[in-house]
Amino acid sequence: MKAIILSGGKGTRLRPLTYTGAKQLVPVANKPILWYGIEAIVAAGITDIGIIISPETGDEVKNKTGNGDRFGANITYILQDQPAGLAHAVKIAQPFLGDSPFLMYLGDNLVESNLDLFIEQFTSRNLDALTLLCQVPNPSAFGVAKIDENGRVLQLVEKPKVPPSNLALVGIYLFSPAVHNAIANIQPSPRGELEITDAIQYLIDEPKKVEARQVDGWWLDTGKKDDLLEANRIILDTRLEAAVKGEVDEQSQVIGRVQIGLGSKIINCTVRGPVIIGNDCYLENCFIGPYSSVADNVTLIDADLEHSVILQGAKVLGIHQRIVDSVIGQRAQLKVAPQRPKALRFLIGDDSQIELV
Ligand code: DAU
Repeated sequence: MKAIILSGGKGTRLRPLTYTGAKQLVPVANKPILWYGIEAIVAAGITDIGIIISPETGDEVKNKTGNGDRFGANITYILQDQPAGLAHAVKIAQPFLGDSPFLMYLGDNLVESNLDLFIEQFTSRNLDALTLLCQVPNPSAFGVAKIDENGRVLQLVEKPKVPPSNLALVGIYLFSPAVHNAIANIQPSPRGELEITDAIQYLIDEPKKVEARQVDGWWLDTGKKDDLLEANRIILDTRLEAAVKGEVDEQSQVIGRVQIGLGSKIINCTVRGPVIIGNDCYLENCFIGPYSSVADNVTLIDADLEHSVILQGAKVLGIHQRIVDSVIGQRAQLKVAPQRPKALRFLIGDDSQIELV
């Protein structure tokens, strides 16, 4: 079996972060979201992986992720010239996929479940498609499935105004090569995309064997800020191991599960886990509260932080109010300036969001 991971698209919902980078590379607990998907696929025994990339962010994804050696996988990059839909991505991956059955994974999704069980069910039941589902309170934001009592899929609709159930399609699918014919027979949707839900509906109508299984545990589509923070919270809560490699001075207190990277200096701070601090950071007079991830080369002085994600090279200096539920982008600076008149001065990128009290 092969796998494809979709790491193209536009990432409009994570702007401004995605103006300068791929949304699939935004870190969760200091690791790109995409890498969790690669690791889950390799853990399920699939090592031949194609990653769909866009012209805008493809080089960044390639340079960061490499040829797969670090994951024990063999990665092939497949360029999609425009984000023409999930089924379009499968279409352009066909030369890579050949006649192999395959797993398709949306590169901005994270799931708790192991994938082995689903692969086993797909193979042993000789299915043409297996979709994973999760109950959600807001099905209209997703693809939605209607299933019968045996798990057979009756109907699929993409982001319906009136959802036929509360079962959302998780961004993980298994397909036999029959899906290629289905894709060849569908038309772009009103939003102009070749929809994978339409291709699966085609398989259902043929009729081919299409079933669904619900995932255990959590599933997150990290496309928006709050989902990203939630993914960060869950990963820190469930997977972070304590390891202090940097320097922590005697005035500092490190409590609970905390990881501090090489070359980082922690001076007169309280760090209350779960917290991850990357390499070469400088933290002085700070409180770093639970569920915070601080990437490499970050400087925090007189800062008070909780449930937040700080990206590489950012600086937070002398902000005496607590920063919560925040994502601060690469190299962004938040500081108190000494010059008068006392005032707020901003240089804020497009689509940024600032909430002051
Ligand atoms: O997250 C689950 C949902 O993912 C499903 O419930 C929906 O049925 C499915 O259509 C999809 O909806 P999204 O609106 O979240 O899809 P998005 O445009 O965010 O794309 C998902 C991933 O695929 C993302 O990593 C970008 C990538 N992508 C997307 C398109 C449209 C591509 O690589 N190429 C594309 O053409």
